[in-house]
Amino acid sequence: MKILIIGASGLIGGAIYNALKNEHEVFGAYRTSSEYPVDTTNAASIRSLFERLPKLDAVINAAGAAPFKPFETLTEDDYYEGIKDKLMGQVNLVHIAKDHLNPGASITLTTGILADHPEKGSTALALVNGALHSFVMAAAPFIDNNIRINVVAPGSIGNHMAENELFAGHKAVAIDAVIEVYKEALFGSQTGQVFRIY
Ligand SMILES: NC(=O)c1ccc[n+]([C@@H]2O[C@H](COP(=O)([O-])OP(=O)(O)OC[C@H]3O[C@@H](n4cnc5c(N)ncnc54)[C@H](OP(=O)(O)O)[C@@H]3O)[C@@H](O)[C@H]2O)c1
Repeated sequence: MKILIIGASGLIGGAIYNALKNEHEVFGAYRTSSEYPVDTTNAASIRSLFERLPKLDAVINAAGAAPFKPFETLTEDDYYEGIKDKLMGQVNLVHIAKDHLNPGASITLTTGILADHPEKGSTALALVNGALHSFVMAAAPFIDNNIRINVVAPGSIGNHMAENELFAGHKAVAIDAVIEVYKEALFGSQTGQVFRIY
């Protein structure tokens, strides 16, 4: 398969890249890449990346941010920052990617536990994650050419959680387990799903 991974130098995207690179033709993109630079907050940048690539069988996005600030300090601009970056970055990616994919291809987005689980500072991120879950559910039936679209919502990755007060009562998830969930979204037959791992 020909697979594009955006965020391929990051914790999650890098692990996905390494897990797939030996058996597939994998293209790793991120802002500071010398080979496949892309900024998902800029639709023209996404378009120009796809114009350089062959038709693909899958796109996985593991990039996107929103401010992590206490509720009482959040401004309207803070919300828009997350909407422009993690939300519309991934929404625009889907709209642009669908014209550069083979029939039956797969698109996988990334959100996270903060869609469902409040933490001090998580409100702006939760807004975006929750919107993406609804977007994937409502876009999936209407994407042509049997293109599937899903989202992976990981918990906090790593084993540092006991050392701070965030995510009290939650277990950290192992990166290897998270990668298996991306593979399920990638190679399975489901569409419109939120794959939660936490
Ligand atoms: N780590 C966790 O525990 C965890 C848990 C749940 C959900 N998540 C979510 O998973 C996603 C990835 O997290 P991560 O921990 O792997 O992040 P990370 O280690 O900071 O990596 C982010 C990756 O995305 C790229 N990137 C950032 N902004 C970009 C943009 N606008 N356009 C293109 N590429 C961009 C970065 O490279 P450049 O800086 O060069 O662009 C890097 O390759 C985030 O949305 C995060 O909220 C993470």
